Amino acid sequence: MFNVKHSLECMLYALSLGPGDPELITLKALRIIKSVDKIYVPGRYAYNIVKRYRKPTLLEVPMGKGKDFMMKVADKIISEAKSHDIAFATIGDIHFFSTFKLLFEKAIESGIKVETIPGVASFSSIFSRLKIFVSKPFKVVTQDNFNDEIIIVLKVTRPRNLAEKLKDFGYKKFLLVEKAFMENERITENLPDKSDYFSILVGMK
Ligand SMILES: C[S@@+](CC[C@H](N)C(=O)[O-])C[C@H]1O[C@@H](n2cnc3c(N)ncnc32)[C@H](O)[C@@H]1O
Repeated sequence: MFNVKHSLECMLYALSLGPGDPELITLKALRIIKSVDKIYVPGRYAYNIVKRYRKPTLLEVPMGKGKDFMMKVADKIISEAKSHDIAFATIGDIHFFSTFKLLFEKAIESGIKVETIPGVASFSSIFSRLKIFVSKPFKVVTQDNFNDEIIIVLKVTRPRNLAEKLKDFGYKKFLLVEKAFMENERITENLPDKSDYFSILVGMK
């Protein structure tokens, strides 16, 4: 399909395309869309955003059968990613409820380097449509599971102390992310007593 590269320099990119408006993709996603050897999209909405910049390869994922479908195509995509830069781009932010999850796990097992690019998630974007400014804790669930498995704590200043309290609510594993995507970013399981203003604690059950 294209010139074979040395596998050490190849990458599988996971790109977030935002909720639907093509102007809501990031500059980083756009740069990668333009530079990779091939880009896969699971569905027409993602296809229509990417095709403004280059022709993507459409994967027609049957509704409700995402996992089975991805099992079938994952090996092919992974084998291509061993010798080429490949991207997989989804609507919203690819880290949430995404067909990419299975491909990500298989790629990591196969020793493929994966870079994931965040974007505007549907559930944050809708507040722009609703003109609602959220300053209270809120929950993101699916229609068949109202129980959260992950808690995200903003405005955390005393992470170690807070994690101790959260253990009483069933959260067992904690990660502190300070200054994400900023200079001096820090991601740690060893929770400090105090953290920077730009800190988020993630707790998992
Ligand atoms: C498989 S999940 C993918 C979520 C996506 N990764 C994200 O970050 O928004 C698909 C669900 O996301 C929601 N969704 C995605 N894009 C949306 C949009 N533009 N407007 C409303 N809901 C959307 C719907 O609830 C849909 O059933």
